[in-house]
Amino acid sequence: MQKILVFTDMHIREAGQTIRDIETLDRFAGGLEHALRRHPDAERIVLMGDLANSGKIAEYERLKPLLDACPIPVSLMPGNHDNRDNLLAVLPDTPTSGGFLQTVADAGDTRLIMLDTLDGPPYRNDHHSGVLCDDRMAWLRAALDDARDRRVLVFMHHPPVAVGLDGMDAIRLTNDRAFLDLVKSYPNVAHIFTGHLHRTVSGNVEGLGFTVVKSTAIQTPLVLEGQGASMSTTGPGAYGLILLTPQSVVIHTEDFQMAGEDVPPYRDALPE
Ligand SMILES: [Fe+2]
Repeated sequence: MQKILVFTDMHIREAGQTIRDIETLDRFAGGLEHALRRHPDAERIVLMGDLANSGKIAEYERLKPLLDACPIPVSLMPGNHDNRDNLLAVLPDTPTSGGFLQTVADAGDTRLIMLDTLDGPPYRNDHHSGVLCDDRMAWLRAALDDARDRRVLVFMHHPPVAVGLDGMDAIRLTNDRAFLDLVKSYPNVAHIFTGHLHRTVSGNVEGLGFTVVKSTAIQTPLVLEGQGASMSTTGPGAYGLILLTPQSVVIHTEDFQMAGEDVPPYRDALPE
């Protein structure tokens, strides 16, 4: 069994700045420490965008020491709150292709494809939907062709499907139709992982399974209509754990603040 850890929507801010009283760097650091302690045998960590809250150099500089110290390879992609240029200025070793943060990593017979759905530059803090432009769609097609008969998992910040949260649905991947037409033509695409929604959501779109991993920081309440995209709660932070076997792709979500070492497993709590 192979393990892939997934973190998303960390929204790291500058020192002294919080989101709804959450110090988002500390929150991510706590989740990362928890995941590395529980799953030191994971073979990769995937960060699915909105690493920084405002795409500032100072925000990426706070993230960098954590990534430098990480003993497991990290793949990352940007979200709508990120700034590609500033991210690369601080993390210059991040792989790119065609100027985008789109990469491929293989885990045995499984190919992980990491997409860059950031719609910029220009980087505008009032524009939050995502896009795969013609160049990025062509890159994705080549990555899928090159996968041959490997099982493929696609990671992207923006969901390519409306999930019933109307505020968030309005800022999903804008060219979701073209994306789905492309990936559906490759039957070895097994699952799509996204962030952006700050909420655990799963289902399938036109037969293709997807899972949205919630944020390490703030979360989105289940308010379907009349919801602004910025509606949030301070629910517990989480990360995802993907378990791969030749037959299965299993996704767990771990609310790491509710899974502390101080809570004994139930069987140990039984009286003698
Ligand atoms: Fe986002």
